[in-house]
Amino acid sequence: MSRSRVGAFARSFARSTSASPVATTLCRSAIRPSGARLPADSRHKRLTAASASSSLSNVPSDTPSSASNSSNAIPRSVVRRQSGDLSRSARYDTRVVKRPAAIDAGLQLGLRNRWYPIFESKDLGSGKAIGIKRLGEELALWRDSSGQPHVFIDRCPHRGAAFSEGGTVHGQELQCWYHGFRYDGSGQCTAVPVEGEQTALANRVSITSYPVEERWGMIWAYIGEVDLFPSPPLELPDEMLRPDWAGHIARATWRANWLLVIDNLMDPMHASWLHAKSYTLSKGKKSARLAVRELDDGFIVERENQRGVNFDWTEYHDNGSLWFRLEIPYPRSAGPGGPFRILGWSTPVDAESSLSYFLRMRHVSGWQRRLWDLLYGLYLERNHWNVLEQDRRILESQRGLSSRLWEHMAQTDIGVVRLRRMLNEAYWSQQEVYLAAAAAGRKPSSGERVKALLAARGAGREAIPV
Ligand code: FES
Ligand SMILES: [Fe+2]
Repeated sequence: MSRSRVGAFARSFARSTSASPVATTLCRSAIRPSGARLPADSRHKRLTAASASSSLSNVPSDTPSSASNSSNAIPRSVVRRQSGDLSRSARYDTRVVKRPAAIDAGLQLGLRNRWYPIFESKDLGSGKAIGIKRLGEELALWRDSSGQPHVFIDRCPHRGAAFSEGGTVHGQELQCWYHGFRYDGSGQCTAVPVEGEQTALANRVSITSYPVEERWGMIWAYIGEVDLFPSPPLELPDEMLRPDWAGHIARATWRANWLLVIDNLMDPMHASWLHAKSYTLSKGKKSARLAVRELDDGFIVERENQRGVNFDWTEYHDNGSLWFRLEIPYPRSAGPGGPFRILGWSTPVDAESSLSYFLRMRHVSGWQRRLWDLLYGLYLERNHWNVLEQDRRILESQRGLSSRLWEHMAQTDIGVVRLRRMLNEAYWSQQEVYLAAAAAGRKPSSGERVKALLAARGAGREAIPV
């Protein structure tokens, strides 16, 4: 979904609720442009917003009744750990503490209401549900008898057992192991066998089922609140749709928050240093000025002093999923076909780890494609993994988002800064809609999720000083 669409929806929703003074107060208190100081009475307003959200506690929910138990809430232990990471010297270093928050902590579990690649098709069999964690949520992934994958919150609404613990597929339905309740692909309960054939309970019970698509060998889920942010079509980059491009999927699971991974993707200059001894990234100048150009759905950051020599440009797109495109030259030994491109997505697992898909694409077809595949299997893939291993080591060495408390940005971080700003804008646009919905009493698909998001807002302010 484009930022403009989200923003327009947020504004129209806020207008539609402006008749309510409570809603107006809540909206104003919710919106904080990135880096702006909190108003003097912000504590009062935060409490007001939180207490208003408690009215949602009567909303039927498929998540636990306690916000602190919700997988969306930022655990207090994380907040404490981040605060505790501030050494005495850093706490009194005004260059650090006075800097506006680099990013809202609410983003650490991902930007909701976007498509994310969550699993590879080849790894999902049939017959039973498996458990995965994405965007901090425990999810049950299963494939029905027609081959269609489904993603549920991994918690049976009867008494909370995990579907992934023994849940079995029967035709188009998933059956919980504990008492046999059955659910169709939409998440609607269809049978309560412990009550016999005729029961009204089934109609009243449902579980959140996220929209799912299976494209290009991957399972994609739209993780968010579809009643507030209807899912847009999943749009894949051109290279994935054209027959004259070919590619390979590389999957990387790292102990690094997804925000650190995507920072890295918008930072071309690291290639000349971190990957200086690699097969593909050893050439070119080791310093540069970088420039940013706007794109329809994102931006490009590029070196001003060279092109086609190293990792010289990279793009960020937000068109319903958040994805990245960059190009890397190949040596002659990689065969015909020119440079290769990386199309990247990073899906948060939890606050500490992420799952990234890097598609290595090349403009080849016919015999050139077969030759590339051959060389890829012989040695190119190994060389690429050596580069990714360097990325893994350095990103994990940052030890989480608390690394941002000590940053001193260079001009070459211009892409990182722009990325964070755009994510912040998208995040706060969403918060406006969530809060307006809560204040207007509109019933979200999961009232507890809104509570959790509100809690995350408060926790974020404590976690990162402004
Ligand atoms: S907890 Fe799933 S059927 Fe009882
Ligand atoms: Fe890298």
